[in-house]
Amino acid sequence: MTFDEMRYSRIGFTAAAAEKLKHKMPLALKKAQELDFIPYTVKDNQWQPGPFDGMCWWTNGFWPAEMWAMYRMTGDEAYQTEAQRAEDMLDDAFRDYDHLHHDVGFMWLISSGANYRMTTCDLSRKRTMLAANILAGRFNPAGFIRAWNTDRTGWAIIDCMMNLPILYWASEHTGDPRFRKIAMIHADTAMRQFIRPDGSSDHIVIFDPETGDKLDAPAGQGYAPGSSWSRGQAWALYGFALSYVHTGKQEYLDTACRVARYFISHVQEDWIPRCDFCQPADDPLKDACAGAVASSGLLELARITGEETFFDAGCRILEALDAHCADWSEDYPAILTRCTASYHGNDHHIAMTYADFFFMEAVLKLQGDDFLFW
Ligand code: GLY
Repeated sequence: MTFDEMRYSRIGFTAAAAEKLKHKMPLALKKAQELDFIPYTVKDNQWQPGPFDGMCWWTNGFWPAEMWAMYRMTGDEAYQTEAQRAEDMLDDAFRDYDHLHHDVGFMWLISSGANYRMTTCDLSRKRTMLAANILAGRFNPAGFIRAWNTDRTGWAIIDCMMNLPILYWASEHTGDPRFRKIAMIHADTAMRQFIRPDGSSDHIVIFDPETGDKLDAPAGQGYAPGSSWSRGQAWALYGFALSYVHTGKQEYLDTACRVARYFISHVQEDWIPRCDFCQPADDPLKDACAGAVASSGLLELARITGEETFFDAGCRILEALDAHCADWSEDYPAILTRCTASYHGNDHHIAMTYADFFFMEAVLKLQGDDFLFW
């Protein structure tokens, strides 16, 4: 079956979801328009900023990305204006360079990068190139991209697979292979050192920054060392699929498919991921965000491979999120509510803008929009 034939089989759900987004998002936008921060979560029906790092908070690209997604869905210029306003605000993060990290791909590829690819705005191109250079500057020739700051010189995390597309874009855009080569060295390391034989993934791997030897794999945002933090699995699934899209390297696609099969086999009870697939069976903690990321990644894999299993799972997750995790009311500005930042943290079953972005992105794919934010 072609991807379009698969899409048509879910046309009723797609139309209903798009209608709900078109009704809800003008209200979400109205609540953001006067703010001097970029929305992250919700408290008392009002948008709240990220908890630390100021404008460098790693999710700050997702609000402008949501605005571009809605612009693509509706053509309404109010979304474009807000996307541009948030992108301008992000410049403060470049000035606060000390707090920047490897998540510059999340911050700029889907904000200024999307803007440039849609409008050819030259300032947006420069912002995206600057972010790509910052990410390239975090590359350790021992074989990985460093994730975080302070003394964590050898720390890499699976989430970084989703930051690599800004490097692929930089090479595609400039014709300079350096960025792509860095991304592929990191992806090759991640394939060998993070992905386990059963298709699950570690969240964090600590390398010796001199030799590149693997030293440790702590629990990170998951339940315990050796467990399977569901959002980490989703980052791996979608991230390897994207590395395949940009390089054509078959091993990346094979890895993405292996992770996808692991994910599907652990979510199919009710299609809403537990926070960690290895958490105690009686622990009800969920992460709707992992579901949204995986759903969009599975639809991408279906688009690449034509495999109906991936398409069906992506849709079932999306339908479960819509039915059991979404707040479509008018006062509450976000959509998905059962998102969990980290298993052992305090932010359980909250809203997170990046969950909403991936939900929208999945709906756009079901509508047949072939613009790839990544
Ligand atoms: N990249 C961090 C997270 O997924 O929470």
